Amino acid sequence: MSDDIEQLLGRARGEIEAAADLRALEQLRVDWLGKKGRITELLKQLGGMAPDARKAYGERVNRAKDAVGGWLDTRKRVLEEAELNAKLAAEAIDVTLPGRGEAAGGLHPVTRTIQRIERLFGDLGFESVSGPEIEDDFHNFGALNIPELHPARAMADTFYVNGGSMLLRTHTSPVQIRTMERHVKEGRTPPIRIICPGRVYRCDFDRTHSPMFHQVEGLYVAEKVTFTDLKYDLMTFLSRFFEREMEVLFRPSYFPFVEPGADVHIRWGERWLEVLGCGMVHPNVFKAVGLDPERYTGYAFGLGVERFAMLRYGVDDLRQFFNNDLRFLQQFA
Ligand code: PHE
Repeated sequence: MSDDIEQLLGRARGEIEAAADLRALEQLRVDWLGKKGRITELLKQLGGMAPDARKAYGERVNRAKDAVGGWLDTRKRVLEEAELNAKLAAEAIDVTLPGRGEAAGGLHPVTRTIQRIERLFGDLGFESVSGPEIEDDFHNFGALNIPELHPARAMADTFYVNGGSMLLRTHTSPVQIRTMERHVKEGRTPPIRIICPGRVYRCDFDRTHSPMFHQVEGLYVAEKVTFTDLKYDLMTFLSRFFEREMEVLFRPSYFPFVEPGADVHIRWGERWLEVLGCGMVHPNVFKAVGLDPERYTGYAFGLGVERFAMLRYGVDDLRQFFNNDLRFLQQFA
């Protein structure tokens, strides 16, 4: 009988010391000391014993119980400490590691250029407005005095949508029309002085053309606006934009919605570069929006933002602006 107990204790000790974690240990506590545990079972033999044998046996079983309880408690403390150490190790932060760094984002060069243009024209009293990119024929062409058979309407240049009833605006000039229409509708009379930056679309793609690009439209309407106002404002803008006195050339040109019209060139090294189109608002445009061409005159201009960004930042391929190559874009951040 006593050998049985010794044997059991030996097994209990071995199992307890081998318990790998607290859950396994808890299971051992149940197996050995629980209501149906192996040590508890021993007590059931008491019933069939002589009184003095019973006393000695009972004491032995109780000591065995204490011994197993002690081993369980000891193992529990060991396992708890090991678990805590493992947790601390897992959560440890090595403060000597180099930081990951935080790269600041930056505005796209086209956005920066638009903001610069808005600021410079803002200084000259121009308010920035916007209009829809999906336009109808009237605002993109008709009201701008662009006749039915004008090449600008050809399918080759214009992206039509909705089965041809709408189109992606080919320039920002429709915003001239919408702005003047709104003034007339709201009973506000000129002066009107706005610029309109935005996306425009043409079926074109090479080093200097992208099917989507950006323009800034300008419009100044009042009584007695002259070509001199146009020239002064544009020359002021150009010199401020490039931060030096610019040599500027106005060369007669044709746009249906202005008369007279001009292309503006700037001196760039040995060359003259065309940077924008402009002119005096055509009387037919005033008529289309319900302004009296006898009373009001105005000028309008349109410039390509990418062209200005390319010149300012020394970029020679316009497609770089739209490739989303971080190595390119990060130079502007
Ligand atoms: N809308 C013209 C273009 O896209 C530019 C322009 C605007 C010319 C206003 C004259 C006046 O080419």
